Amino acid sequence: MRDCRKAEEGERPFRKRVKSALALAFAFSLLIGAATAGAMGGGEDEQERVRLGARLFREDRFSSREGDLVSSCSHCHLFSESPEGPHAFTDSFARSWIPWRTGDPRREALRNAPTLFDVGIMPRLHFDGEFESLEDLVRGTLTGRTFGWLPGERPRALWQIRTAVLNDAGGATMPGVAVNPDAPPADSYRAQFQRAYAADLRDLAESEVLDLVARAISEYMRQLKSGRTSPYDRFVVANGLPVGPGPDEAPVAFARRMLGRIADLEAKRKLKVDRRGGGFDADALAGMKLFFGSGGARGAPASGNCVSCHAPPLFTDLSFHNIGVTQREYDRVHGEGAFAALEVPDAEQAARPSLQFREAISSGRPGNVDLGYWNFIKLGDSPLRRAGESDTRLLRRMIGAFKTPTLRNLAYSGPYMHNGLLPSLESALTELVTLSRLARSGRVRQADDELALITIGDGDIRPLVSFLNALNEDLKARIAGP
Ligand code: HEC
Ligand code: HEC
Repeated sequence: MRDCRKAEEGERPFRKRVKSALALAFAFSLLIGAATAGAMGGGEDEQERVRLGARLFREDRFSSREGDLVSSCSHCHLFSESPEGPHAFTDSFARSWIPWRTGDPRREALRNAPTLFDVGIMPRLHFDGEFESLEDLVRGTLTGRTFGWLPGERPRALWQIRTAVLNDAGGATMPGVAVNPDAPPADSYRAQFQRAYAADLRDLAESEVLDLVARAISEYMRQLKSGRTSPYDRFVVANGLPVGPGPDEAPVAFARRMLGRIADLEAKRKLKVDRRGGGFDADALAGMKLFFGSGGARGAPASGNCVSCHAPPLFTDLSFHNIGVTQREYDRVHGEGAFAALEVPDAEQAARPSLQFREAISSGRPGNVDLGYWNFIKLGDSPLRRAGESDTRLLRRMIGAFKTPTLRNLAYSGPYMHNGLLPSLESALTELVTLSRLARSGRVRQADDELALITIGDGDIRPLVSFLNALNEDLKARIAGP
């Protein structure tokens, strides 16, 4: 986590309103959340850096000319650009579209594009934890398959990135974004880098240019924070409830404390819920009790046990779990029980990351599958290791483990799961009910222990969906500005 926050010792509230008439989409995204502090001296200016990052995020001249699609970060991480309505910096595909290359004929990325809200606090990025900092992720993305580059083409990618920023003359080059007609044309990248980083692009080697580009885009992304304005947040504030676990409090203990407070308030008839509906209403409250409940014992009331992995306030523990999503996709293609029988090498034999185990599942290639964090966990110093656990056992537990996604703003980030195969919240929860039943009967390979403790049934889906919907903020209002 520290790695990707080097530049931001301490935060202060965002005071200066961004007045400049930039492209609408990114002017408003500058207003998102609190800005980070830490003037870096030497003519560097935080607003300039974020503005530059926002422009680079939408720059499509970095993608390979040999692909059949141009790409930019904002092609897959949309905010206000889509006529369908706001997105939480995601696209609407199950798996994002990447440029087709004759040397590697594929149209789809391996995974679904996740939201970029709150990525600034994520200790590991990508569903499989491939990257440990935003800067590394941007360097990898701009020179990788997502931007149409094949392995071995990194030198060409570096040349093209440097050439594109160096030759840029500014102007209204904001591809794919509705540019404010009153906006003054953007300055050249050279002028922008000079102001933001006191750096003259002409003096920089290709890899130094990439580093600065990555830095600016990362600073931009660190501003992208979910608002705390959802009906759930308002309910928490109105009732004086805690927003998240204390420093040493386990999520499940926190959940118990939360439910205790709610029961107290209910007994005193003092709990404030939205009785007109549309906000945090009785249905959402019923869903919240399921979500925070963690009974698990035989005879106990149904409980979702959701909070043990989806801990408030972001509704993720930022960790990795196998809830069986890969197994279900694999077995659908190769037959029931196929995933359980798939040979996966143990710690001593495994070459990780593995090409074969970071691949789309396809009927012609039964060896190919996406094992997620199995590819990247550092066995030596992993906090996930249990007392006395061997490398082999730990690595086996990571088969099919993926990063727990945040559950904020799901209305703007479907379809769901790392493979994007579940189009709605109802379908996602129906799948969780099925997976938890399979786990209880020992039929999910290396299932996370918490999966079997989900004891909800089909009748619990409706209130849970209401609760999840209460975690949506009003992005339309945010786009429309204060
Ligand atoms: C072709 C579509 C596409 C483009 C272009 C793209 N991304 Fe992504 N992005 C994805 C997908 C798909 C994932 C999930 C990858 C995974 O988990 O393996 C992702 C993941 C991420 C994540 C990790 C989020 C998390 O929670 O772990 C970040 C950050 C990110 N992208 C930023 C960027 C930036 C910055 C750019 C431009 C340099 C970019 N992306 C370009 C599709 C895209
Ligand atoms: C063992 C940890 C764990 C538990 C318990 C758990 N989840 Fe999850 N959840 C995950 C992980 C990991 C993923 C991503 C899985 C994947 O993509 O393969 C996920 C994905 C989801 C998604 C899809 C989100 C998206 O953006 O794609 C939803 C919705 C969800 N969970 C809701 C719930 C609810 C509701 C509960 C309780 C009934 C619950 N989860 C219990 C770990 C957990």
